Amino acid sequence: MTTAANMRTLVEVANLCVSYGSDEDENRVLDGVDLRVEDGDVLCIVGGSGCGKSTLLKTIIGLVAPKSGQVRLLGESLHTLTEQDQARLLKRVGVMFQYGALLNSLTVGENVALPLQMHTDLTPDFIDDLVETRLALVGLDSTSHLLPTELSGGMRKRAALARAMSLEPEVLFCDEPGAGLDPETAAGIDRLLLSLNQQLGMGIVIVTHELMSIDRLNGDLVMLDEGRVAYRGSVASARQADMEGLRRFFYPDGAA
Ligand SMILES: Nc1ncnc2c1ncn2[C@@H]1O[C@H](COP(=O)(O)OP(=O)(O)OP(=O)(O)O)[C@@H](O)[C@H]1O
Ligand SMILES: [Mg+2]
Repeated sequence: MTTAANMRTLVEVANLCVSYGSDEDENRVLDGVDLRVEDGDVLCIVGGSGCGKSTLLKTIIGLVAPKSGQVRLLGESLHTLTEQDQARLLKRVGVMFQYGALLNSLTVGENVALPLQMHTDLTPDFIDDLVETRLALVGLDSTSHLLPTELSGGMRKRAALARAMSLEPEVLFCDEPGAGLDPETAAGIDRLLLSLNQQLGMGIVIVTHELMSIDRLNGDLVMLDEGRVAYRGSVASARQADMEGLRRFFYPDGAA
């Protein structure tokens, strides 16, 4: 059981600035982001298209270098670690990218097996069983022999989630897990994420635009705007908040 004494901070971002290209100030996407994710948190990150949500996730997992500021992941300063130490740390983290990012030359089963083969000493038979279990969890039983190109967009997303979960990470980052899915499948993914959080204590950070998902997950809502965290609070208080961006997000037709 988690107690206050052994609570860990999964992610600590302080005054983070990120820009693409050489003209740092012109292209600044993140401009002073502060964010903490504690053990067991569920966080939904929202904000307009292009405001830097995916960039924030990519910076937290080391794919984009910060221009300035601090990023700590599971207590370590990822960006200052050697490649080997980064790889060791990232084994404890699951990532589901916005566009699935499965390897197209490998079957679905091989994609899900890949992290297990790379990072564990489990036998091939055991890995095969685990892969089937993970795929069944996301409703993709009997698809392990298919290639990603033979799946629908929604199935690819679910396969990517199965791969992200394969090592039972301590924290899972999902970039728009429900986008483009039918409502029932999207709800199933939310239920799965919640059970990972509640049963395994996995911290979950999700970028999403889906109001239904935000309500179902019912974690903390973080709104990014103008390169910063403009709001953080419960979904209930975000709905009531006197903030233009939040009102437009929750009530796009103007009715409050
Ligand atoms: N690799 C890159 N090189 C240059 N600019 C980039 C790169 N990736 C993102 N950007 C720019 O950074 C800004 C933020 O992009 P990002 O993908 O983080 O937004 P987002 O909030 O995830 O948007 P969406 O909701 O559409 O997914 C955009 O202006 C985008 O054009
Ligand atoms: Mg994005």
